[in-house]
Amino acid sequence: MTEARFISPAAGRLGVLTPGLGAVASTFIAGVMAARRGLAPPIGSVSQMAHIRLGARSEGRNPLIRDFVPLAGLDDLVFGGWDPISANAMEAARTCGVLADKDLGAISAELEGVVAMGAVFDRAWVSRLEGVRVKAVASKWEQAQALMADIEDFRGRHGCDRLVMVWCGSTEAFSEPSGVHQSAAAFEAGLRADDPGIAPSQIYAYAALQSEVPFANGAPNLTVDLPCMVELAEARGVPIAGKDFKTGQTLMKTMLAPGFKARMLGLRGWYSTNILGNRDGEVLDAPENFRSKEVSKLGVLDTILQPGVYPDLYGKIDHVVRINYYPPRGDDKEGWDSIDIFGWLGYPMQIKVDFLCRDSILAAPIVLDLALFMDLAARAGESGVQEWLSFYLKAPQAAGSAAVEHDLFIQQTKLKNTLREWMGEAPVTHSEAG
Ligand SMILES: NC(=O)c1ccc[n+]([C@@H]2O[C@H](COP(=O)([O-])OP(=O)(O)OC[C@H]3O[C@@H](n4cnc5c(N)ncnc54)[C@H](O)[C@@H]3O)[C@@H](O)[C@H]2O)c1
Repeated sequence: MTEARFISPAAGRLGVLTPGLGAVASTFIAGVMAARRGLAPPIGSVSQMAHIRLGARSEGRNPLIRDFVPLAGLDDLVFGGWDPISANAMEAARTCGVLADKDLGAISAELEGVVAMGAVFDRAWVSRLEGVRVKAVASKWEQAQALMADIEDFRGRHGCDRLVMVWCGSTEAFSEPSGVHQSAAAFEAGLRADDPGIAPSQIYAYAALQSEVPFANGAPNLTVDLPCMVELAEARGVPIAGKDFKTGQTLMKTMLAPGFKARMLGLRGWYSTNILGNRDGEVLDAPENFRSKEVSKLGVLDTILQPGVYPDLYGKIDHVVRINYYPPRGDDKEGWDSIDIFGWLGYPMQIKVDFLCRDSILAAPIVLDLALFMDLAARAGESGVQEWLSFYLKAPQAAGSAAVEHDLFIQQTKLKNTLREWMGEAPVTHSEAG
């Protein structure tokens, strides 16, 4: 046993703020509301449904994670968000059409009560959307101040003891970090000078960190994956995590690729294509926005398969990712993978995966877990990048200089061992003796 760390109790209300009140955010909020009324279990949420083994197998200790670590309870969550289009969570849920009327009926009034605040929005970053509920302040500095005022107003109105923010907004156009992102001081100067390199999501992140609100990023835009945000998070003592919820095709990829590598099977190519017809798909139809997603999706194979270490098996891989906007499918994405592997004496084999998934159904429990674990991290005295939450993310942000892990199963071990350590339990190594 190691010594448990001090974690302040999860007393009072936790406000969960989502910039972006679209398909993912409304499905997340509706699911929590349904779960706390006992209408449906929170399926897919590791924080709510998974058990964690403690000690040797023979000890038989296997509590639920939520009984083991002091997480905020679902009844203590309060929801809020910003959106340039959706008026409230109910309208967002109806527009995206993820949940059926029979599931929305009982909670419709509660969902209507989650009213979107006016957004910091700029079409330069999301050309396919026309924002109507947008803050009428011009300068980026003033936008940041207005968001901080919203945060404090929400905190006061809802009597929240703590807040967390999870970006559920549209994917912004691809951009590279520039001088303005190199330090907190440069970023603040950039806000005052309306630097065109500062995206709206970065203004939300800045406002959150200045307000000491942990920030997790569910989209592939850089947002907190920038030196200025890491500096600010550490200076203010606030946890951050990003980026891009790991759902659908990448979830499959990071389950399958570790299996091929575990058995030393070679990989020659992986062709991935998706069709989806929701607002996210429409935004990603713009090449500059798709580029953000492409970069985030392409990274996973190299880190899992280590071509430098295994050149015979993984030295020459054609990895292609496509997303096609196809309105008839709505939120029901179809992800095809055509995988070319090879085995003994180099003989080729093919695997086809056709995943008829529901994007927001897969993403919603991730929002819940990130919100609860980021709040836990803050109460445990953590600040800066929370690499142990990479389990949930497609392009995880590294806490140090070492390459970040993409293998879902190693990520799961890291998450559980982090919780064990914080609670003064020994890590589980799965060795013969354990
Ligand atoms: N659903 C998934 O499986 C999944 C997986 C990984 C990442 N994501 C990402 O999560 C995000 C949300 O996905 P979604 O399906 O809910 O999309 P969505 O289009 O339904 O919702 C996004 C919402 O963000 C709003 N928005 C855009 N710019 C904003 C701004 N500056 N401030 C506040 N709101 C803003 C839009 O009006 C929209 O309502 C997207 O970036 C998507 O790429 C989703």
